[in-house]
Amino acid sequence: MAAISSSISLSLSPTNGHGENGYAEIDWDSLGFGLTPTDYMYKMKCFENEEFTEGQLIPFGNIELSPAATVLNYGQGLFEGMKAIRRENGKLVLFRPDENALRMQIGAERMCMPSPSVDQFIDAVKQTALANKRWIPPPGKGSLYIRPLLLGTGAALGVSAAPEYTFLIYASPVRNYFKEGTAALNLYVEDQFDRASRGGVGGVKSISNYARGLKPLARAKARGFSDVLYLDSVNGKYIEEVSTCNIFIVKEKTISTPPTKGTILPGVTRKSIIDVARDHGFEVEERQIAVEELLEADEAFCTGTAVVVVPVGSITYQGKRVEYHTTDANSVCKKLLSTYAAIQNGQIEDKRGWMVEIN
Ligand code: COI
Repeated sequence: MAAISSSISLSLSPTNGHGENGYAEIDWDSLGFGLTPTDYMYKMKCFENEEFTEGQLIPFGNIELSPAATVLNYGQGLFEGMKAIRRENGKLVLFRPDENALRMQIGAERMCMPSPSVDQFIDAVKQTALANKRWIPPPGKGSLYIRPLLLGTGAALGVSAAPEYTFLIYASPVRNYFKEGTAALNLYVEDQFDRASRGGVGGVKSISNYARGLKPLARAKARGFSDVLYLDSVNGKYIEEVSTCNIFIVKEKTISTPPTKGTILPGVTRKSIIDVARDHGFEVEERQIAVEELLEADEAFCTGTAVVVVPVGSITYQGKRVEYHTTDANSVCKKLLSTYAAIQNGQIEDKRGWMVEIN
């Protein structure tokens, strides 16, 4: 395992003034999911066939890249998404950062990139969160979204892996991902564009998975939908995932979600909600779900780091719209969300050791 050689340089002075109680001076009640530049970012480099070393915090700002960097030319890049939360007792916590570190390693192997060790990754995330502590929203007002990036920053003209890589982390305070807030989503089943294909990179968090979804997303939004639900690219028959999150359906005491077999992102929230659901006594199946099954479901909901756990109010497929009741206080979605949030906020026991304190 590579040595951790990063150091905290907290003598760097942040760019904005401190507000009351050590918080940044922003209106915490109007946070959405946009970029609010914070004070510091973390940067660590390595050459091909070497290990990452000597990471450090630097002031948040633009980075300089060769125009021939492989991330710019060939999309050799990965990202992660995670959140730092401030609890009522002042403790700052991360949720399962080891899962993000491991997912980045698996993605890096697929994209022919070296990756930071799990310890390096978690140490760097903690440093970034602590250095930007004043941007971690007050309890109940959101979280600090942390975005680790692994980029091919060395130059290559021919299609090849980069000779140099950069691991970068920046952070931004956020609240709800969707403009709907926590209200139910109206999904459009996309049957012309695919998100991922067999043998591709849909199962890792490659940067290239997202730009391809902009057009279908824009079309769906223009028609009044919240987001797109993709189908598998082989049969155009089985549901896969939404642009930014995984999907679950509920039928009586059984909860089903598509299996992660290479075309679906193995979400950390997805994995955690499966455990929470089993704790609640639900049967959870990871299996292919034909789009027609949506018509029979009692409920549907989405999970993701950015979106958290959000109910689906309707799904439209080839002109047919199915609606789900989402106002029931005892809905499965609400039950699972409230347990998941209570673990994160420290209100119920974290029996699996998911939470990692950073202060
Ligand atoms: C996340 O949930 O962190 C994601 O990666 C979704 C993102 C594309 C907004």
